[in-house]
Order: sequence, then structure tokens, then C-alpha cells
Amino acid sequence: MSTALSVRPPATAPAPTVPLVTGESVRYANLDLAASAPPLRSVVDHVAELLPYYASVHRGAGYSSQVSTSVLERARDTVGRFLGARPGDVVVFTRNTTDALNLLAASVPGAVLCLDSEHHANLLPWVDGPHHVLPAAPTIAQTLDDLRAALRDGSFALVTLAGAGNVTGELLPLPEIAGIVHAAGARLAVDAAQLAPHRRVDLAATGIDYLALSGHKLYAPYGAGVLVGRRDWLDAAPPHLAGGGASHSVTTDGNDVRVEWAPAPQRHEGGTPNVLGAAALAQACRALDPVIDEIAPEHERALLHRLLDGLATVPGVHPLRTWSDSTDRVGVVAFTVDHHAPGRVAAYLSAEHGIGVRDGKFCAHPLVDRLTGSNEGAVRASIGIGTTADDIDRLLDALRGLTKRGARWDYAVIDGRWAPTADPRDLDPLGLGRATADAPGCGA
Ligand SMILES: Cc1ncc(COP(=O)(O)O)c(C=O)c1O
Repeated sequence: MSTALSVRPPATAPAPTVPLVTGESVRYANLDLAASAPPLRSVVDHVAELLPYYASVHRGAGYSSQVSTSVLERARDTVGRFLGARPGDVVVFTRNTTDALNLLAASVPGAVLCLDSEHHANLLPWVDGPHHVLPAAPTIAQTLDDLRAALRDGSFALVTLAGAGNVTGELLPLPEIAGIVHAAGARLAVDAAQLAPHRRVDLAATGIDYLALSGHKLYAPYGAGVLVGRRDWLDAAPPHLAGGGASHSVTTDGNDVRVEWAPAPQRHEGGTPNVLGAAALAQACRALDPVIDEIAPEHERALLHRLLDGLATVPGVHPLRTWSDSTDRVGVVAFTVDHHAPGRVAAYLSAEHGIGVRDGKFCAHPLVDRLTGSNEGAVRASIGIGTTADDIDRLLDALRGLTKRGARWDYAVIDGRWAPTADPRDLDPLGLGRATADAPGCGA
């Protein structure tokens, strides 16, 4: 179908050339888009165009302040429209999905139900309040039956789940889930971090009450995310970031500080907002809007099938799946390779082939432990706009080489991560001095 369409997916910023341990240089094959996606070119251009006008927002009378304020508020409208927000819904700019879900967690006036297959961002914010973690069953049908049963007594205020999983990319039937949740008198929150970059998400049409996403996964890596949804809980919640801009008025009487808090979104956006991040996110929404219904999903489906068909021909490679009856997925594929530690596979792909993938448990420890039946984690390849057939073929060739002939270089666990034992690559191409991350992050 895509050949008949005249609109193409928007271009991303060009991939850099990266060094290999063997001395050559190759175009970087970024197959880690589920973690962070490269910016769309139009996002980079939009931010560059805005930078000369960048100034304080809301309280500045200067020309640039007025331009910046208008850009921020226009960005709010654009993101809300892209996501099918209802009249009266609020768009709160946050740092990312994690931040948005933490804000929602502080706003829910009751118990929360989530699945145990969630990314930690949609699991850990709920555990300090009344909550129930529902195990994801081996099928979606069974999971939905379990959900219906768990909601039967009407004791939950909110059900929250990922529209697309960050381990297997499998999609959940959101309209059906919204029906189940609403019938039980609860609201539905969707972690759309992996869904929104790849499929149209429409709050009004789907019946989603709250949605969280991250700009850096939506081809707009300038540090903004959003929580979009119904106003009443957000207006009644304690301010997410107490400070300037979040209040209408503040008076003191000795030690007593009296605050009249602003309604959402300002209530939750204390301090100077990330105007460039919001503008970048809005520009990504504008660029994706004409392609997100058909062109982008078609492009990604073709590549996903190429990847899955290819992986099926590599001996010892086992893609993971959460639900045996899932019928659709975004381009996220986690897999294990017999006799090869995931971290070593990822180090090999980077060092000998210039391919970026993710290894570990992807901040979804309970799910990955269950699907792998081990504590070892997996390798994850993820694709999107900007991914090419050549990227996929390079990954498949590299995996075939690994499973047939083995790696050409030596690797060992160094400072907690698999790495080449000798690494001649210049890992400081910007000349800033090399720093190593000492935090294990989610992969550990
Ligand atoms: C499904 C899902 N939810 C939430 C997050 C957290 O996103 P962020 O780190 O941008 O807050 C991620 C990140 O990978 C994710 O994949």
C-alpha cells in the first residue's frame, strides 16, 4: 500500500558515522529507538528558528517573551489536538512519561490497578498508594477477563497500562479496555511512551482518560513530555512542582504561608517551563500528524516483518512475546541468543558492526524475568521512522555471524557492563573528555 502513497515518513536527522574496534567506520544503525529516537529534521529546524526569540515566558513584556509565551501555549494546543484531547482536557508539560505518571499518581483520588508487565514508570509510582498489580495472563483475552473480575467490586479509581509494551511492542485493544474500565466506574490511563510515536492515539475516540508520553521517544529529544487528560483530578491535586508560576497569590503571616494555587496546567508547572522542549514536541506532532494513520505504521510494519522473518532464520535466537493472541505490535523486538549473554551481544553489535541496541531488562524486570525464565535479561531491537531495510539487514547479518563464527574481538564485563577488553575507538568525538556512567540503570 505504501508505494501508492505520495506522502513519505518525515526525515530524521542524519545518522553519524561511528568507529568500529576493527578500525573501520560505518553509518550508525540506531536500533534503539524505543529508548530514545533521533530528532526529526523539522524539529531541529523549528528549534533553531525559535532560538533567537527564546526568552522568559508568561511574565515578560518584551517582544521575545511574548513570542515565546505564544509558542508555549500554541504547543499545548497542538499536542492536545494531535492526541484527540476533549474540550476541557488539560495538557500539562512534564519532563517525560515518568514525570507525567508520578504527577498522575499524586492526583488519583482512590485505588489504582496496573499490570505486572508495565515499564517501571507505570508500576513504581503507584505502589505507595492503594493499588493492585494484576499479573498479565498468557493471552490478552485472559488478561481482559482477569481485569473484568478484578474491577467487579467497583473499588478502583484508575486502571493504568501501556498501549504498547516496551519489551515486545504488542498492542492492547484500548477501546475495549476503556469500555471495561468505564463500566466499572473507573478511569483509564495509558502510558503511550511506546505507542504514540508509532500509532494514532485519540483520547476522545478511544475513551482514554489520561495519557502520558515522552518527547524524546517521539522524535523530539529536547526534554519535554506531557500528561493529558481530565481536568478535575488535576485541579484538585497538590501542585506537582510548587514554586513560581504555580500560584495565583501568596501571602505570609509570620510563619504562615497562604497560597492560592492556580488551576492545572500552571498548578503543576512551577518554575520556568521548558519552552524549547514543548515547541519541539509540538513540531513533532505537526510532522507526524499527516503520516501517523497509515504511512508511518506501513513503513514500520514492513521493517518489522523483515526483522522477525530474518530473526526466525538465525539459529538460537528467540524473540519474546507476552501474549500468544496479540495481533498487532509496534517495532520493538526483544530476544535472547542461546549461549550468548545479552550484554555481550549488544557490545559485539556496537563494537564490530556499529549497531545500537539495548540489553538488560528494559525497566520491566518482572516481565522480562518471566518471559526469559532467567535473571539474564535480553537484547532489544527497536525501529521507527528513519529506520531502513539496510539497518535491519546489518543486524541480521551480524547476528548470523555471531551465532556461526563467533565474535572477532574479546569482550568482558568491565565496571558492570560488557565491553571490548581493548577498545581503540575514540569514544569522545566531541572532545569533552571521557566520563563513564557508574549507575547501572534499568538494564541491571
Ligand atoms: C512504556 C514506557 N513507559 C515509560 C517509559 C519511561 O519513559 P521516560 O524515561 O521518558 O520517562 C518508557 C521508557 O522507555 C517506556 O518504554
